[in-house]
Amino acid sequence: MTEKCPNGVMSRELSVGEVAERSGVAVSTLHFYEEKGLIRSERNRGNQRRYPRSILRRVAVIKVAQRTGIPLAEIAEALAVLPHDRPLTVKDWSALSRTWRRTLDERIERLTRLRDQLDGCIGCGCLSMQECPLRNPMDTLGAEGPGPRLLEPDAV
Ligand code: FES
Repeated sequence: MTEKCPNGVMSRELSVGEVAERSGVAVSTLHFYEEKGLIRSERNRGNQRRYPRSILRRVAVIKVAQRTGIPLAEIAEALAVLPHDRPLTVKDWSALSRTWRRTLDERIERLTRLRDQLDGCIGCGCLSMQECPLRNPMDTLGAEGPGPRLLEPDAV
């Protein structure tokens, strides 16, 4: 699609199709991101979504964060404090990546612990309430909340 308006001035806004094409993210995913508040669009006179060019950098950050395993809710929370009307800066990315690095380190530590515990279970199959480190006797972890508590102890 052309970047020039009929008057020859560079268009400052992108359609959802243009964002999809340039970012490599499906239109449906962009709609989903928007629904979750990660990105924002305005409507033109024809009621079509229009995005500022700065959206491309924001989408790139979302993709990278997702690729590293950061949950979408966490990404949305981090991006919520950053303005939608300008591109994310190197400083923004630096702060985000530092935070996510800590999150990933904690997750890797938890998974490493679980993997090491699992080593003792390989070839065993006893699932003994007394002996198996991965068992959860009497559902004691259930009191901490729903979900996989050993994997995601901070989950609500
Ligand atoms: S299955 Fe036997 S120790 Fe875990």
